Amino acid sequence: MSWIKKRRSEIYYRRAKTEGYRSRAVYKLKQMDEKFSIIENGIRILDLGSSPGGWSQYSSLVNESGLNVALDIMPMRRIDNVKFINGDIFQDGIFDQVLDVSPDGYDLVLSDILMHTSGDNSRDSANSYFIAKRVLDICEHVLTRNGKTLIKTLQGDLTEDLRVEFKKHFRRVFLTKPPSSLPRSAELYILGEFYSGH
Ligand SMILES: C[S@@+](CC[C@H](N)C(=O)[O-])C[C@H]1O[C@@H](n2cnc3c(N)ncnc32)[C@H](O)[C@@H]1O
Repeated sequence: MSWIKKRRSEIYYRRAKTEGYRSRAVYKLKQMDEKFSIIENGIRILDLGSSPGGWSQYSSLVNESGLNVALDIMPMRRIDNVKFINGDIFQDGIFDQVLDVSPDGYDLVLSDILMHTSGDNSRDSANSYFIAKRVLDICEHVLTRNGKTLIKTLQGDLTEDLRVEFKKHFRRVFLTKPPSSLPRSAELYILGEFYSGH
């Protein structure tokens, strides 16, 4: 990691510590929320790949009177106003598991999931493409009409295919990289708004 990259990462890491957030990832969601008004109060949110919990902390504060559900293969320490499911997005029965908590579905599906990266950009970006496609499958089962999704991916050959896939299901699609995402990382978020239904 270059000196500037390391320094920037440390700044957000320290800020998260001071402000009581569990991860510096929280600033990515906060900055994207400030730009696109993604989270409203009173909605049903599913946060996939939630641990250690920065995004869940932030979304449960904004969505104070709504439903906040978080899911991760790793454990997550308890957060007030967040229901946690310990599970894998690829496991059978995952749709039912998340619908058990919110039978009428979710208004917003977030995914900050990333598999272990190998350093081989095309391999890592292909893996992130398959994760994003799986999250879109989950959306097909649980997202309400006109709902939104925000999914992390790694920029690569398949990014355009992913955007096209999003366009099939969402009326508005944005590719975005928040300022707190390290500039030289391939990380990118895709936001889909106005889900057209199943
Ligand atoms: C970058 S971290 C998420 C950070 C989180 N958004 C925060 O603000 O603290 C990515 C998470 O994805 C989880 N993850 C990876 N593969 C997963 C899978 N197949 N199903 C569920 N969670 C997964 C990891 O365990 C990890 O906690």
